[in-house]
Amino acid sequence: MNVRPARGSFISIEGIEGVGKSTNINFICEILDDIGIKHISTREPGGTPIAEKIRDLLLAIDNKSICAMSEFLMIFAGRAQHIHELIEPALVEGTWVVCDRFTDATYAYQGAGRGLPAELIEQMEVIVQGSIRPDLTLIFDIQAHLGLERASQRSNPDRFEREEIEFFNRARECYLARASAFPNRCKLIDASQSISQVQSELNDLLRDFVVSRK
Ligand code: TMP
Repeated sequence: MNVRPARGSFISIEGIEGVGKSTNINFICEILDDIGIKHISTREPGGTPIAEKIRDLLLAIDNKSICAMSEFLMIFAGRAQHIHELIEPALVEGTWVVCDRFTDATYAYQGAGRGLPAELIEQMEVIVQGSIRPDLTLIFDIQAHLGLERASQRSNPDRFEREEIEFFNRARECYLARASAFPNRCKLIDASQSISQVQSELNDLLRDFVVSRK
């Protein structure tokens, strides 16, 4: 008899620029390895060859004239491809997915940042994702001016990183509001703490989450 594997869990990682997502994602994957959970790590926008091409369009600094609606549609076009080609097949075969950003970023950046209505994002979320939602979302939080200061140490800021601080203040407020609105799914982590404090919190959160999925 063929027994279908238990569906994998879907973890998304969120936060404005400069919160240290990359370092923390590596750490999260190390914890999952340590527990023995098969997983993949991916990102949005991007994650598949076609979605990575859309990412290039979205981040290119010479694409200044992209309007908010076009940006929004490109993000969801990439997301549709990412879900179809990578996320859903992985979850079905029991592999966990760790995704650097997902739809909470669309609420934060295209919704709060660019001013598109949340209802529009909610509708597109249903159309493109069906029932796919992250099971756990870790939101790394930092004041926008501190995050931008950290991010400015990287070279060549992309089209988003060139936005004004008010854009990131609005995105941050949206993340905080979503953390309060979805307390079971979203866990807020203070990214202004030391790396060891952040990692100790992450370790506890993830191990509790793994236990809760068994
Ligand atoms: P990254 O720098 O975290 O890789 O993300 C690239 C940019 O994409 C980041 O500035 C936020 C932006 N973004 C959106 O505006 N909306 C979205 O839905 C996603 C996933 C990312």
